[in-house]
Amino acid sequence: MSAFATNGSRRRWEDLVRVDRVHRSLYVDEEIFAAEMRLVFGHTWIYLAHESQLSEPNGFLTGHLGRRPILVTRDGEGRLHALFNRCTHRAATVCREESGRARSFQCPYHGWTFRNTGELVGVPWPDGYGPDFRREDFGLGRVPRVESYRGFVFGTLDEAAPSLTEHLGAARPLLDYWIDRAPDGDVRVRSAAHRMVYRGNWKLAYDNAGDGYHPAFSHRSLLKMAARLGETRDMAYFGRSPDQGPMYVQYLGNGHTFIDQRPNYAAAGDFWRNQRVQPGREGLERLIRDRHGADADRLLDLAVGSQINLNIFPNLLIIGNQVQVIEPLAVDRTQLTWHATAIGGVPDEVNVLRMRTQEDFPAFGEPDDQANFEEAQRGLSVPEMEWVLMNRGHGVPDRQKVDADGVVTGPVTDELHMRGYFQEWLRLMRLEDP
Ligand code: FES
Ligand code: FE
Repeated sequence: MSAFATNGSRRRWEDLVRVDRVHRSLYVDEEIFAAEMRLVFGHTWIYLAHESQLSEPNGFLTGHLGRRPILVTRDGEGRLHALFNRCTHRAATVCREESGRARSFQCPYHGWTFRNTGELVGVPWPDGYGPDFRREDFGLGRVPRVESYRGFVFGTLDEAAPSLTEHLGAARPLLDYWIDRAPDGDVRVRSAAHRMVYRGNWKLAYDNAGDGYHPAFSHRSLLKMAARLGETRDMAYFGRSPDQGPMYVQYLGNGHTFIDQRPNYAAAGDFWRNQRVQPGREGLERLIRDRHGADADRLLDLAVGSQINLNIFPNLLIIGNQVQVIEPLAVDRTQLTWHATAIGGVPDEVNVLRMRTQEDFPAFGEPDDQANFEEAQRGLSVPEMEWVLMNRGHGVPDRQKVDADGVVTGPVTDELHMRGYFQEWLRLMRLEDP
């Protein structure tokens, strides 16, 4: 299928993704959404879970691969499985819990029972089936490829997809940086404390996590409050262009994007030298300084956010110390879940402070973003206005540079991240082209 109907006429994907703009139908058209679930979410690596969420034998977790309900399990031998949470009898989901431990799952509809490896092991009153009924033919469907990169578990439905490592590409060293902030390399995903559903397309969240243009405006009240409390330097947010600061945005290839705020904080402890802890957290900072003396700056640095936004296409966002997962529910409905993380190799008080810092943005910043997503979705309903611009920085001499690996870097407010990832979107959407 190389073309589909939009406003009654047949158009090609290429007509909808131009070098500096994308067509509104990418955000509002149900047929395109269905194609995305099949082609984007069906052919690339999708983040499913973090191993720390199923560290015990027989641990499990439910989630989605696109819109497909998925059950991620660790069997008694410690092997990971990603199964369709879909009974092979008449399609009911077999597991309705978010997480837990179980050796088997019994479908609540008619009671078929599946081992956590997917095999069908029990059928009530089996003599109702003919002699050709073989239980081994009716195990749960499975995601054919599941790979884990340093604890991050991904699955793909495409047997021919490149390896996960290849897919991560230039995002891999950045993910390494983020993981290696744990002195023992052990990151633990703790909870899904913030889960929100917004009335908008899933790509609005992906666009936004790589967008360095909006914070000065959208999060103005949050930033002003932080400034009043003495927590932030001027950060170029008030008056000067953020482009005059040292932050930058990158398109990493394979759909992945990156915002780097680390140059704002060149040395460990910079954040704490330039800012003050929020009222209510001074005690924890003092405790860490008292207990750890010369090592306190390094430890405090591990408590505060990583200062990076790393988007792993299409559904994983690493924001500060948090892991955010995008789950498309419908063309105009999306669930976002923020998971807090703790790290190994540091004293407990560092993780306590780290947890506290992770309360801030989902509570005070994300509502600004979600309001924008919902209002953008409303604006997208104007059929006469066809295009969504992503042209900031495009055609402006010397704004971007491209390195030998094809990584594109530009000032933090550029929309080069969208121009980049939509090329990967286009590549996947064209897989069904003749
Ligand atoms: Fe699961 Fe019938 S749908 S047992
Ligand atoms: Fe934002």
